[in-house]
Amino acid sequence: MGAKTKNTRLLSWVNEITALCKPESVHWCDGSQSEYDRLCQQMVEGQTFTRLNPEKRPGCFLARSHPSDVARVEDRTFICAPTAEEAGPNNNWADPVQMRATLHKGFDGCMQGRTLYVIPFSMGPLGSPIAQIGIQITDSPYVVVNMRIMTRMGSNVLDVLGENDFFVPCIHSVGAPLSAGQKDISWPCNPNIPQKYIVHFTDDRSIWSIGSGYGGNALLGKKCLALRIASIMARDEGWLAEHMLILGLESPTGEKTYVAAAFPSACGKTNLAMVIPPTVLKGWKAWTVGDDIAWIKQGPNGELRAINPESGFFGVAPGTSMLSNPNALLTVRANSIFTNVVLTDDQDVWWEGLDGPPPAHGIDWTGKDWSPSSGAPGAHPNSRFTAPAAQCPSIDPAWEDPAGVPISAFIFGGRLSKTFPLVYQSYDWVHGVYMGATMGSEATAAAIGQAAIRRDPMAMLPFCGYNMADYWSHWLTIGRKLGSKAPPIFRVNWFRKDENGKFIWPGYGENMRVLKWIVDRVRGVASAIEGPFGYMPRYEDINLEGLDLSWQTFDHLTACDKGEALAECKELESHFAQFGHRLPQEIQEQHRQFFDRVNAISGDAWHMPS
Ligand code: GTP
Ligand code: SPV
Ligand code: MN
Repeated sequence: MGAKTKNTRLLSWVNEITALCKPESVHWCDGSQSEYDRLCQQMVEGQTFTRLNPEKRPGCFLARSHPSDVARVEDRTFICAPTAEEAGPNNNWADPVQMRATLHKGFDGCMQGRTLYVIPFSMGPLGSPIAQIGIQITDSPYVVVNMRIMTRMGSNVLDVLGENDFFVPCIHSVGAPLSAGQKDISWPCNPNIPQKYIVHFTDDRSIWSIGSGYGGNALLGKKCLALRIASIMARDEGWLAEHMLILGLESPTGEKTYVAAAFPSACGKTNLAMVIPPTVLKGWKAWTVGDDIAWIKQGPNGELRAINPESGFFGVAPGTSMLSNPNALLTVRANSIFTNVVLTDDQDVWWEGLDGPPPAHGIDWTGKDWSPSSGAPGAHPNSRFTAPAAQCPSIDPAWEDPAGVPISAFIFGGRLSKTFPLVYQSYDWVHGVYMGATMGSEATAAAIGQAAIRRDPMAMLPFCGYNMADYWSHWLTIGRKLGSKAPPIFRVNWFRKDENGKFIWPGYGENMRVLKWIVDRVRGVASAIEGPFGYMPRYEDINLEGLDLSWQTFDHLTACDKGEALAECKELESHFAQFGHRLPQEIQEQHRQFFDRVNAISGDAWHMPS
């Protein structure tokens, strides 16, 4: 299909990239169902896709990636700002001039023998004042069909763009040209990791990605546009682009409170975004707006309003079950794409942690025969589903409201097995920014047994497109602008462990009990006491009915060990030192106050008064 636009910037850019990449043909995507079906069928014939059982998984497909191409590659991700300091110690910087030369070479002829697809897409509801238009060029039909689920994609985006000059140019290639007569493979990519590049230019805001076809490396609307480039736009224009889920909590009287929550990758955003309240919290309901990214701007009345820029979920499959996340499982029952999970003998999908016994036999993510006794997991730990958000049973009626939903609280959380309590609230906005800036998460139990914390401020370490210290300053500026409209900020930790290494807090649906305390705090009807970390609920302030969670266990979830907290203070000093003079004064002052509160603990630990 040819171009359905008269936009001169767009047409000349597509011509320029076509001349560079030298594809066999060019196809402008219209976003229609028939185009989607055609591409899926073509991928079935090329063995990229396996059509799943039409009775059990109507409209669903399975893809297996190349074993070298299974996740985002952070050390091949670059921010090309004018100087390394602007990119900050949180990013890989590369000189823009040199990088342009490298990419020019890499993209030259990279689409030989392939079709170049032009994908017009909108991040955010079409025409919303918060939305942004991007145009992705790709040589991967897998990317096209995933983008159709994850974004609003097609000809109507070109209508909204009109003759407008500004869109985010996104150029993607799997980096596997085909010579004349060469047969394609099921997952083309460049298996040589140093030849993969995911590059962001801050001057023209363009995104260039080559060598990978997987997730955030290749679906450029997601992490590249909606977080890295958008965070730069947000800094310049006074809004926020965050790695946050958006969740609406409805009280028994029908009052809706929306919260936005940041957790690092694979720390439970999708689970929390689709939480189902336990039955003892009679009448409470939870509604999903988004599970990964939030764009947040001040509304006409000064309040913060958020949209989910995506239209689908790209969620981790393993661990998803009717027990842990029924809404996610119901969402993927049809019209979904599964990547790197097990194919069962009845052409359905399976992954570790799914309900019921494992299948006796299947084909694993590498395409080999697999059985539960094979030893290795059948699904890759980062295997994912791509599913339309509209199919989620808990999708919020306002999820596509172009004006966004009002945000009444921010929540930060990480995976921390000790030191950090179940939940606490900041003393004020600046303290809340400090709580976000000090966020960290543990990698899965390190071999030496000593779990190391990876600092992941606001869950944005891999996604902030500029110097993280400037990003904290930006958060402080937003707080000053909001004044009394600034939402309260909370930190949560579902992951504290006991002496035997078991999670103390039951988590999942029970997290709603903590969310209810947060909502009650927002509404000014729940009490709290001051602890070293912040305002905390007492045992009687959280509804724990039916949980069999003793006062002693609650104490274990909330106590602050002085030695551990002092060690944390020390670690934070080296974390902050990386940012030198760019570190905001206010953050330094917050750190001093936290140290003083910890130092003032008498005895070995602070305990909740009984
Ligand atoms: P990205 O899509 O990578 O950004 O990640 P995400 O934050 O959406 O991660 P996801 O929901 O896939 O995280 C799943 C992981 O979190 C699994 O290991 C779950 O077992 C774990 N998890 C989620 N909720 C809870 C909880 O309440 N308690 C505990 N202990 N684990 C949880
Ligand atoms: C993440 O890593 O935070 C993701 C998955 O959400 S990906 O889109 O692949 O980056
Ligand atoms: Mn994510």
